[in-house]
Amino acid sequence: MLRTILLGAPGAGKGTQATRIVEKYNIPHISTGDIFRDNIKRQTELGMRAQEYMNKGELVPDDLTIEIATTRLLEDDCKNGFLLDGFPRTVYQAEKLDEFLKEHGQKLDNVIDVEVEQEALIARLTGRRICKNCGATFHVINIPPKEEGICDNCGNTLIQRDDDSEETARNRLSVYAEQTMPLVDYYKGQGILVEIDGEGDPEKVFNDIAGAIGD
Ligand code: AP5
Ligand code: MG
Ligand code: ZN
Repeated sequence: MLRTILLGAPGAGKGTQATRIVEKYNIPHISTGDIFRDNIKRQTELGMRAQEYMNKGELVPDDLTIEIATTRLLEDDCKNGFLLDGFPRTVYQAEKLDEFLKEHGQKLDNVIDVEVEQEALIARLTGRRICKNCGATFHVINIPPKEEGICDNCGNTLIQRDDDSEETARNRLSVYAEQTMPLVDYYKGQGILVEIDGEGDPEKVFNDIAGAIGD
């Protein structure tokens, strides 16, 4: 049983670490970014609305995002825990999440803040490649696939995310600094913030996370 949030700037490695964490703790991985991207792919109304903001590197409006996240948290597989990746991202979202959890007699075990320095973040975002079929994430330099442009898992083509151009990536980082960084103090104030150095090998980062949050 683990109820946790992965906090961290765009490119900090939330998705990369989430894959490992959900496997170890056997909990669902809930990424609001992934939910939006899935809706864009299926061209749903939600997808159309979210896309407008995502392509500019802006946040999708709070009310829409909170609705999506809390609806997902009501599903059965979240009864014994969850890993939230990329939600909440504003103090308002965090307050609404707290209200939701309280109403359902639940509380967060911890909030993992993965920290990486600014220029490394830009290099990670602009070099990221994702599989258009299974979503696996690679990096042209840091974590290259065995064969260039091809997914190691399923053999499909690797593509770049629409919001990973340098310009949009920089905007996402400034949006993060303005709107999401205040959550560090918010959760510090609740005494549940765990700070992790996100630089270095992904396995090392994962061992630090597992060591800090325990079994
Ligand atoms: P979202 O999909 O959440 O994107 P993000 O927060 O910008 O984070 P990323 O997915 O870009 O980075 P990550 O930390 O997962 O890094 P990754 O592991 O891939 O959100 C996208 C958009 O959706 C937002 O801009 C917004 O519009 C909207 N949205 C989503 N949630 C919202 C919310 N709550 N409210 C409002 N709007 C919302 O790694 C990055 C790269 O680095 C990869 O190439 C990877 O291979 C590499 N890498 C990872 N770890 C390492 C390592 N240790 N060393 C070297 N390279 C590494
Ligand atoms: Mg991600
Ligand atoms: Zn794949």
